[in-house]
Amino acid sequence: MSTPSRKIPVDLPGRTYEVTVGAGLIGREDCFAPGILGEDVLIVTNETVGPLYLDRLRQSLGSRRAAVCILPDGERFKTLEGFSAIIDSLVENRMHRDATVIALGGGVVGDMAGFAAACYQRGVAVVQVPTTLLAQVDASVGGKTGVNHPGGKNLIGAFHQPAQVLADVTTLRTLPDREYRAGLAEVVKYGAGLDPGFFDWQEQNTEALLARQEHALIEAVSRCCECKAGIVLEDEKEAGRRALLNLGHTFGHAFEAATGFDQWLHGEAVAAGIIMAARLSEKLGHLSAGEAERIRALLDRFGLPLSPPPGSATVFLDLMRMDKKVTSGRMRFVLLRALGESFVADDVSDRDVASVLRQASAP
Ligand code: NAD
Ligand code: GLY
Repeated sequence: MSTPSRKIPVDLPGRTYEVTVGAGLIGREDCFAPGILGEDVLIVTNETVGPLYLDRLRQSLGSRRAAVCILPDGERFKTLEGFSAIIDSLVENRMHRDATVIALGGGVVGDMAGFAAACYQRGVAVVQVPTTLLAQVDASVGGKTGVNHPGGKNLIGAFHQPAQVLADVTTLRTLPDREYRAGLAEVVKYGAGLDPGFFDWQEQNTEALLARQEHALIEAVSRCCECKAGIVLEDEKEAGRRALLNLGHTFGHAFEAATGFDQWLHGEAVAAGIIMAARLSEKLGHLSAGEAERIRALLDRFGLPLSPPPGSATVFLDLMRMDKKVTSGRMRFVLLRALGESFVADDVSDRDVASVLRQASAP
């Protein structure tokens, strides 16, 4: 018997939507009932995900007029050109303000399609149908959309909340192993940073998660989305608490940048970054050595990188200073007071950061 679906409301005033998490959702005729109001739909996907799930998705659309925009696959195509291709499709297919964009794919497709929906005719609806673990637990919820610029990742974008999110965990069966594990780093982020009970649950369900068992996936994705929805309700535009979702990301972005953005997946860099944030928290006297070790051990069981890529502490520090999260010249780190209890610190000394980086890189 299949595990029942879960529904997580995101109750933003005037823009309430639901995240549905379940198995075998795509293809069901009723699946888009709350999110698609008009008759016109543009499905945005890429050349990898399209052949896998496009036909099934079309079956859910009944008699609606559905056009398709297929983008090349990859972060390097998350550009203004990709954005323009979606806008061109909307124009060529004579879509009006009541049209709905459906983003079928990982975070790259979701961010680009969301941004195009935010801009087309000053905003049309977008329904997110995330097909990677990372997109199901993070990118599809919360309304951050955008594209990269040669000068930096996600430099151009807008907040545009989806009308609906449909996370069908069945799609995760075809996800390459490395991508799947990278998504698990973000799952650990929620437990370690925000929900200690969820962290315990992950420790107890490691094998089920690695085996991609349906019930474990529905539980994990739902709990991440509940955490994220709670934070987005409190701080939609990241004026404060939403920054807690960046646990491991200050270090992680530096690791991604140091390796040219093409060797480590984002989640892999975040995994090593979470370990560094835990070690830094321990060094500054906030987190116990035992708790830092539990975080390291869980990421290890998920087969994720446990130390920084080759590089000097000075280079990583320089890269951290260029990060988007730097405000008024101060680097911000998400640190841990205990498992599941994170806070933002902007007064950490370069010396302490360099010290944990050197320790972690020592042979
Ligand atoms: P991705 O979209 O590049 O997908 C990873 C790979 O998996 C791609 O090759 C994709 O084609 C393939 N794929 C997707 N679903 C598949 C499936 N079911 N079966 C087989 N292959 C599949 O990467 P991602 O990790 O999903 O997303 C990363 C992007 O998300 C980055 O651009 C990042 O900036 C963005 N992001 C956004 C937010 C946000 O809040 N908006 C949050 C986190 C990350
Ligand atoms: N991925 C972090 C956020 O949505 O704020």
